[in-house]
Amino acid sequence: MAFPRVIPLLIGAMILAAGLLIVLSSKSFGQEQEESQGAGGSGEHAFRLYCSNCHGDGGRGDGPMAFGLSVPPADLTKLSARNGGVFPRERLQGIIDGREFVKNHGDREMPVWGKWFKMEAEEDLGGAEGDEGTVQRRIADLIDFLETLQSP
Ligand code: HEC
Repeated sequence: MAFPRVIPLLIGAMILAAGLLIVLSSKSFGQEQEESQGAGGSGEHAFRLYCSNCHGDGGRGDGPMAFGLSVPPADLTKLSARNGGVFPRERLQGIIDGREFVKNHGDREMPVWGKWFKMEAEEDLGGAEGDEGTVQRRIADLIDFLETLQSP
């Protein structure tokens, strides 16, 4: 009568193994998240993480989330072209940050990245006031990457 007893044991072992797999994979997922958030250095990485959903991988405004929006996401490869051939660095800082704009105008379709990066900076510091320098650096990194996307 050994056979019927082995089956629940086997099932138990399988459940255990499956549980272990889930724990392990969610752990490495958590680490990945942390790494990508901590890495403020790469504007390209940040762009893929935060912007390409709407603006598209190449910045042309054709990301998978673009379709549900009332205003289409801007084509970010034409920023210089639309500004007489000059990359509008200063203006972009304000647009991407967005905190001033929200105070002045109310709603916009694009998330207010200044607020978001500030919140993340606060979390990194365990709830202390988020470091404004970190926020500005992350926006500047993004702008550096946007500059590489420009086409005539
Ligand atoms: C939820 C979708 C969405 C996401 C995510 C998003 N954007 Fe936008 N973005 C828009 C929309 C829509 C516009 C058009 C203006 C508006 O209504 O806000 C826009 C406009 C812009 C503009 C203005 C271009 C111009 O010429 O005026 C810039 C620059 C920009 N986005 C950069 C970014 C960056 C950088 C990120 C990532 C940090 C990002 N966007 C993420 C939706 C998005």
